[in-house]
Amino acid sequence: MSKADMQISCSEMVVPPHILALQPYQPGLSVEEIKQRFGLEKVINLASTENPLGVSPLALERTQQALVGMSRYPAGGLILRNKLAELFGLKVENVIADAGSEGIMANIVRTFLCDHDEVLTTEAAFQGFQVLARSRGVAYRTVPYKDWKYDLPVLADAISPRTKLIYLANPNNPTGSFFTRQAFEQFHRRVPERVLIILDEAYYEFAMVEPSYPDSMHYRFDNVITLRTFSKVYGLAAARIGYGFAHEDLISVLLKVKLPFEPSGVAEAAALGALEDREFMLRTVANNAKGLAYLNRNLREMGMQVAPSAANFVMLVFADSGRAQGAFEGLLRRGVIVRPLGATGLPHCLRVSVGTPEENEFFIEALDRVRQEMEMHSYAAVD
Ligand SMILES: Cc1ncc(COP(=O)(O)O)c(C=O)c1O
Repeated sequence: MSKADMQISCSEMVVPPHILALQPYQPGLSVEEIKQRFGLEKVINLASTENPLGVSPLALERTQQALVGMSRYPAGGLILRNKLAELFGLKVENVIADAGSEGIMANIVRTFLCDHDEVLTTEAAFQGFQVLARSRGVAYRTVPYKDWKYDLPVLADAISPRTKLIYLANPNNPTGSFFTRQAFEQFHRRVPERVLIILDEAYYEFAMVEPSYPDSMHYRFDNVITLRTFSKVYGLAAARIGYGFAHEDLISVLLKVKLPFEPSGVAEAAALGALEDREFMLRTVANNAKGLAYLNRNLREMGMQVAPSAANFVMLVFADSGRAQGAFEGLLRRGVIVRPLGATGLPHCLRVSVGTPEENEFFIEALDRVRQEMEMHSYAAVD
């Protein structure tokens, strides 16, 4: 799109300029696709921060029971909201449930942002949020990472009279890093009350064990909306169900804007089953902690640069985007699908989900081979 096109006012164009500027979302490659492309028998998918243990059996059972009720419209997540309120000691008026935490994020963007507002976050923030904010057509400002973490003091300095919404993911996707309780409290003191903060805790169950992790349920800040999801630790990514906590005044307006029949009744039943299955959740967290330790140890032994992670994935940092792309393609040829991060804004990085112990080993072996091949090629190129 040319600069002249950008200057044409929105009402003169069928598609507004900020929508034309968006890139279509690239879904992860499928295992079947890679098997066929490279003639492989074994392919593993570590691209999408999903649960490597699959779905909680209890969630599956509740889903199957709910299918017979599909002729009825659901009640907008009310049963789940009540359950979550009971679990976390809140009023139901403080809780929202919707089609994924991204569904709630979309409603926050629609509900609170006016045309001249500005959104503030870190560079290369979670891609889902980038798309939602940019598709609203508001100013989108970022500050750089510091050691692959949100630089909260610099973010606070960047708040302007136009800033309406700040997006923080803790732990963060794609870096995996988290900010501490002290850093968050200091930051919050500097945020005016009129500015809303989305505190996206999609990976909080994995980070809870960190003593300095600021579980947002310890706070009752009127301008903070906490978002959580059933997509990760509960293994319900395809069901599309997430939840949020906030002051009742914020939740009540979000409830006005949200689509009345989301989340679906089937997704809600799955979530209720998942909440009952504490054993599955704890097993997932334990598998992740072991897997993270294994990956970090082996990657560092290999001499790879890895961002510090408290989530269910690690981010590998390469010297340049060519090497990251080379490693991505080499891994594909060896049957490992990981996530290139060019679309997020980090073309020299790859994100790798923690898998089962067997998957983690398969990945490490494949990466070691790819790395050796790449070194041989770079020596050949120098020669
Ligand atoms: C930080 C972050 N927030 C939100 C989501 C999306 O969660 P959901 O599946 O609940 O929409 C993800 C998924 O990758 C994520 O990484």
